[in-house]
Amino acid sequence: MTIQTQNMPEHIAIIMDGNGRWAKKRNRPRLFGHNAGMKTLKKIVRASSDFGIKILTVYAFSTENWKRSEDEVSGLMKIAVDYFTSEVKELHENNVKVNVIGDLKRLSPKVLDAAQKAMALTENNSGLIFNVALNYGGRDEIVSAVKALMNDGIAADEVTEEMLANKLYTAGMPDPDLVLRTSGEKRISNFLLWQMAYSEIFFIDTLWPDFDEAAYLELIEAYQKRNRTYGSA
Ligand code: FPP
Repeated sequence: MTIQTQNMPEHIAIIMDGNGRWAKKRNRPRLFGHNAGMKTLKKIVRASSDFGIKILTVYAFSTENWKRSEDEVSGLMKIAVDYFTSEVKELHENNVKVNVIGDLKRLSPKVLDAAQKAMALTENNSGLIFNVALNYGGRDEIVSAVKALMNDGIAADEVTEEMLANKLYTAGMPDPDLVLRTSGEKRISNFLLWQMAYSEIFFIDTLWPDFDEAAYLELIEAYQKRNRTYGSA
């Protein structure tokens, strides 16, 4: 495998899909799949740091995921709390900066507390920026940004793309170079709608719990073969 160190994606965004199907194939409950997905996430965060990726953004829970069964929602929230509390020490040691993005108002106090503690501890770290999208929706994010501009009293004809981008959760960060969705589904599902205007998008059939470091390297290699034109010829 030949990875060019000078042409690494700076920002990778991942829709971690397929946990439910992975569990179903094993005749296990969906939460078994989400737990396996959390293990994959741990590996991929470590690998991202090791590969020198600057920003990793993962879709952990969307604004639409509340429609799932109460058991699944509470199980996913418990996984989020477990993840933040059990991983935060290692993330901090690896100089990772945790940033939870999304509408945090709807999260339970327990989830919010675990997320805020992880963010506070790692706030000054200068390594990988790890954005965890929780109760995140791309349209919701854009509407909030518009509201923030209006609250600032900005006149309609003064609004620029840059001003709007600076009101998004990803303010100050480069847009994702590479967006991955696992599991064979070919949809964006309300993820980073504004930010992925020029991203290279990859859909792979692997279910998220089966994704690993080798597949991650293959993905980066495939990205490096693409020719990015940003609209020019
Ligand atoms: C999509 O698979 C996955 C999710 C909605 C949750 C992703 C969560 C994790 C990977 C665990 C780590 C989480 C945190 C909060 C750190 P699906 O359930 O839609 O699978 P299916 O399409 O096969 O049913």
